[in-house]
Amino acid sequence: MNTENCPPLLNTSQMTGDLGGGNANKREMENQAFSSLTTSFAVCLTGTKKGCGIGGCGACTVMISTYDPVSKKILHYPANSCLLPICSLHGTAVTTVEGVGSTKTRIHPIQERLAKCHGSQCGFCTPGMVMSMYALLRNHPEPSMEQITAALDGGFEPTCCQLRGTGQCCLDQEGGVSSSSDRGDRVRCRGLNYFQFTKSVLFPLQRMAQEQQGRTLVFQGERTMWISPASLRELLELKTKYPKAPVVVGNTSVGLDMKIGGVHHPVILHPDRISELRIVNNTNNGLVIGAACRLAQLRDILMKAVSGLPEEKTKIFCALLQQLRTLAGEQIRSLASLGGHIVSRGSTWDLNPVLAVGNSVLNLTSTDGKRQIPLTDDFLSGCKNADIKPNEIIVSVLIPYSKKDDFVSAFRQAERRKNALSIVNSAMRVLFKPGTNVIMDLNILYGGIGSTTVSARKSCQKLVGRQWNEHMLGEACRLVLGEIFLSPSAPGGKVEYRRALLVSFLFKFYLQVLHGLKILDPSKYPDLPKKYMSALGNFECRPPQGRQVYQDVDPEQPPQDPVGHPIMHQSGVKHATGEAVYCDDMHPIDGELSLAVVKSSKAVPVEPSVLTRCYVLGVLQVICVGQIICAVVAESDIQAKRGAEKVKIQYEELEPILTIEDAIKHNSYIGKEKKVEKGNIEKGFNSADEIIEGEMHIGGQEHFYLEPNSVLVVPRGEDNEMDVYSSTQYSSNVQELVASALDIQSNKIMCHIKRVGGAFGGKITKPSYFAVIAAVAANKTGRPVRFILERHDDMLIVGNRHPFFGKYKVGFMNDGRIVAADIQAYINAGCTPDESEMFIVLKMDNAYKIPNFRVRGRACKTHLPSNTAFRGFGFPQSGLFAETWVTAVATQTGLPPEQVRDMNMYEGLNVTPFKEQFDATNLRKCWTECLEKSEYYSRKTAAEEFNKQNYWKKKGIAIIPMKFTAGFNKTFYHQAAALVHIYKDGSVLVTHGGVELGQGIHTKMLQVASRELKVPLSYIHLCETSTTTVPNALITAGSVGSETNGKAVQDACQILRKRLEPIIQKNPEGKWEDWIKEAFQESISLSATGYFKGYVTYMNWEKEEGHAFPYFIFGVACSEVEIDCLTGDHQNIRTDIVMDACFSINPAVDIGQIEGGFIQGVGLFTMEEIKVSPEGKQYTLGPDTYKIPAVCDIPEQFNVYFLPNTRNPIAIYSSKGMGEAGVFLGSSVFFAIRDAIASVRKERGLPENFTLNSPLTTEQIRMVCADDFTEMVMNWPSLCSLWPPAAEG
Ligand SMILES: Cc1cc2nc3c(=O)[nH]c(=O)nc-3n(C[C@H](O)[C@H](O)[C@H](O)COP(=O)(O)OP(=O)(O)OC[C@H]3O[C@@H](n4cnc5c(N)ncnc54)[C@H](O)[C@@H]3O)c2cc1C
Ligand code: FES
Ligand code: FES
Repeated sequence: MNTENCPPLLNTSQMTGDLGGGNANKREMENQAFSSLTTSFAVCLTGTKKGCGIGGCGACTVMISTYDPVSKKILHYPANSCLLPICSLHGTAVTTVEGVGSTKTRIHPIQERLAKCHGSQCGFCTPGMVMSMYALLRNHPEPSMEQITAALDGGFEPTCCQLRGTGQCCLDQEGGVSSSSDRGDRVRCRGLNYFQFTKSVLFPLQRMAQEQQGRTLVFQGERTMWISPASLRELLELKTKYPKAPVVVGNTSVGLDMKIGGVHHPVILHPDRISELRIVNNTNNGLVIGAACRLAQLRDILMKAVSGLPEEKTKIFCALLQQLRTLAGEQIRSLASLGGHIVSRGSTWDLNPVLAVGNSVLNLTSTDGKRQIPLTDDFLSGCKNADIKPNEIIVSVLIPYSKKDDFVSAFRQAERRKNALSIVNSAMRVLFKPGTNVIMDLNILYGGIGSTTVSARKSCQKLVGRQWNEHMLGEACRLVLGEIFLSPSAPGGKVEYRRALLVSFLFKFYLQVLHGLKILDPSKYPDLPKKYMSALGNFECRPPQGRQVYQDVDPEQPPQDPVGHPIMHQSGVKHATGEAVYCDDMHPIDGELSLAVVKSSKAVPVEPSVLTRCYVLGVLQVICVGQIICAVVAESDIQAKRGAEKVKIQYEELEPILTIEDAIKHNSYIGKEKKVEKGNIEKGFNSADEIIEGEMHIGGQEHFYLEPNSVLVVPRGEDNEMDVYSSTQYSSNVQELVASALDIQSNKIMCHIKRVGGAFGGKITKPSYFAVIAAVAANKTGRPVRFILERHDDMLIVGNRHPFFGKYKVGFMNDGRIVAADIQAYINAGCTPDESEMFIVLKMDNAYKIPNFRVRGRACKTHLPSNTAFRGFGFPQSGLFAETWVTAVATQTGLPPEQVRDMNMYEGLNVTPFKEQFDATNLRKCWTECLEKSEYYSRKTAAEEFNKQNYWKKKGIAIIPMKFTAGFNKTFYHQAAALVHIYKDGSVLVTHGGVELGQGIHTKMLQVASRELKVPLSYIHLCETSTTTVPNALITAGSVGSETNGKAVQDACQILRKRLEPIIQKNPEGKWEDWIKEAFQESISLSATGYFKGYVTYMNWEKEEGHAFPYFIFGVACSEVEIDCLTGDHQNIRTDIVMDACFSINPAVDIGQIEGGFIQGVGLFTMEEIKVSPEGKQYTLGPDTYKIPAVCDIPEQFNVYFLPNTRNPIAIYSSKGMGEAGVFLGSSVFFAIRDAIASVRKERGLPENFTLNSPLTTEQIRMVCADDFTEMVMNWPSLCSLWPPAAEG
């Protein structure tokens, strides 16, 4: 970078900690004047991670400290470093997680607390979480729970991260073990002063900032010039000189255009140091706020104004505050500016409609002079004569005070309540003639409808002079639906839902205003009927609370034996300090090359020719969009990516098969039909009182592990040896495929895995292909090659959880007993078999004993990326489907669903439809215990009572049982091996074949070794998983990784202990170190391999019988929700889970798995939607378009109980694998929502046997809660009465 014209860009003396280069592309310096922080610093700090690169995941959070010349204070704020241009950081301090604390110095209480309270799993997001909390505490030393929850809005998802604490002070926990714990105030640790631990900013920011006031900063890169003028006059001159140059403040809009849209700006202006753009003035008309004011600052300013001014003046401010509560996460709010928001004017931006209805005014300046323009719908739609001119900038914005007779409201509905762009948003304002309800002025704007914010201007004009009553509402709905056009093929789909939101919001506004009028003049206006009051108000995100109850260890157990104790994750502290190294954190190696791939953009099953500039590379057959066609290696990431972009592909197009229906139509399947049958299906149906039939679609799910697939291949230079560092769940497969691709023996390929940043099944088969590509390149060039997938490539290439389509025919008696069920199941396998054929029919009974049962299943072959394993592998889909037909029986018989579940549930000793014996006693115990713990019946009654009182909001509750299948149906899949060394100093090194994915396997292995060798944990180390220490390791999956590898570790340790026994007996009072020394003197081998042959399982498909699973895991979940019938939003109120975890080796780890799995299930069943174009292109390729649950989706009350006094004799220490089972229990939320919807439909006299598909999104909830508004949308322009059926009170 050429810095001739300017002072050093970032002087190390300015840094509080160290600069966070992020893990990504540290090799990449280039001359990217405009690169974001994570992609540019060639410093080898591992803490700051890159999970998405577009501001959506929070993994890259750092703290920025800057001097504010207006307030004369140093401001600290969290920021997504992936969107931070380096040049914008001049004069600021960047604190990364390394600057907060480390194991080498001392760890900060936040890091300590997060680690000790089990707040990390794979740890990839943990540094980002630490930085968010750290920035919060810098500003608010004693934050409220609300502030904490808001600080974690910034993208952190509780699927992998646990986002939970035991509620105890971490300092209290040292050495202590608790058998039960309550979540509570996690902040006020006794005697803990965060500032005691918090480094102050080391450099004189204030002086620096003052010094720089008068200087223009120019950074000249190869392609971009970044200019930061020191004065407004200079900025205006520059804007005249470079009218096309963007005025970049937060870079959250321009940055995304550049990253995603490929837009290039040769000149960028950065006005951050211009004080006129940061002013905050209270004027007679309203607040004047500088355009460079950040949205987080705007929030604070508005909050102050609202608390200090009369209520009638602050209605616009309150509406803005409401939108700011949910707009993006705190990191984005801290970066994004008011001016940037207004000028970038995305259709779904939430503040613009409010600013427009509030008649805000933009104060513009240019070299031609000053002027004011109103912020209107014309401005927002980019109307030329209402817009700012290319040489103008917005200096400030006047946000007017509201008037006494003003009513202002803001609305938004998104796929997720927080940190998700609106599907539709709106702001509405009405001004009445003083003292009347006659409309003097009306303004209604909507976002998310077209390419810009739109106004219902004509409708509003027509309504002026009308009284605010029901007739006006009817007319308003008619007019708005007529004026706001949304074509049936509008981008983004959800057309009917979006139209329904137009009028639903209008109705809410109507009621809010009625309510407001009544408050203003109680004698003049009638009361709002009590039932309709429920249309008012939004769900608030309250901090979750919970209990986690597990059994204490036997009091006889030796105190140093850690088995059964909630031991902290082995890497917990390193997760929190950022010292935990992932594949891409490994230091660049001399001569290292980067690799980028070229993917097919078509799903056609024909040959494309791959062209570079001058020659054809080859002809291939592509079978899906995203198929890797070729790779480019180069000296840097950017060069590799640019090279890949240059490759041109010509396709010959054919019609692709994409859906299950298409595949059925074309008879396109993988493998044969699989079938399992029990009893006599025909007889069963003949004996039934009634038979019902139905079908259901269940969508797929993105794995969304936070660490994208990564691989580094390093040729050793001799004998074709290669080290392969991969983020895989399957080390031996990587080794085998690389060896085979290079045509060398496996013994030359050393695959290493330190840890993986989440996997969920998505890193079983695919990482081997990525490793092969990198290995071929490394072999060809003789140089190390690193291949880190970008988030969107990872989501495109890897495949998903299998979408499912099922048909059922169920025969039952009038008392609810199901006597026959015939199930036909299909999954969308995508373009190759992968592991799709496994288990598609073996889980369909869930917890129910159906005497006559037939299930047939097929894997459909389509032109989608090959779908693959995903946590629970087939069970979540099968279980949801089973619960759907059981619910259908309850609906049909009119019996309560829990009664039908209860009477059909397995009991005592039993056999599955494939004739595997099992004991269902614990299933029943979980059921009874969950009914009791959740206070199911009393809460059900309370929900019913609530529903009677509230027409527009309904509660629902559901209790769902589970018989989960652990493991695999082949014995060899369960084998495991370990290698344990004892060194002469007594220290122990344990290795085994399992991979640490965040599930705590290494922690459990250390516990096993500690118990078996009878040495404290501090003696034992676990370094990595490697094919050099444990050959032929099987996949770490199927919930059984910890127990099978645990058996192998146990075996190795027992061998060693046995060898040591004679020595110990000779010197029983001796110390471990003495015994080891003695053993060495006596030439006793201090190294042993351990082996576990595996659980015996098999499946005979011919006979339709087998012992397909080593054991079953039972669990029951009860969830309660509340839905908003007008928007489709829902609130997870409470969940109680009782799990048959038997004797948990580590309850903290297991509870984390259950909680994380449950939330992942909530995402699967209620939120996560993969959208694919008719041509087979996946639209949902990042956190911007694909929403997984966030903190706001954790049930407000979340309790997990382990069933006491149960044992699993076949697994190590009588434990059970908890890795996957929790996912299905997320379906309790699905059925609780269904229960709420059923209550709506019953009240409205609608058929109660309605079909719901998964995910049960806001769209589906809204549209199935049919009412006059949905009817209006479907049948427009014909209209019926707007009010719900007349109701009293
Ligand atoms: C992850 C993520 C989540 C988001 N979620 C939401 C959400 O939930 N709701 C929502 O409403 N929005 C959301 N946004 C959008 C966000 O509100 C906008 O990107 C942001 O407000 C733009 O501000 P900025 O300062 O970053 O603009 P920049 O990117 O810096 O600039 C944007 C444009 O504004 C122009 N500009 C800036 N200041 C001036 C000025 N003073 N005079 C003239 N022109 C100027 C620039 O020239 C440029 O064209 C999200 C964005 C991201 C990245
Ligand atoms: S990497 Fe920056 S927010 Fe995801
Ligand atoms: S611990 Fe948060 S991403 Fe895994």
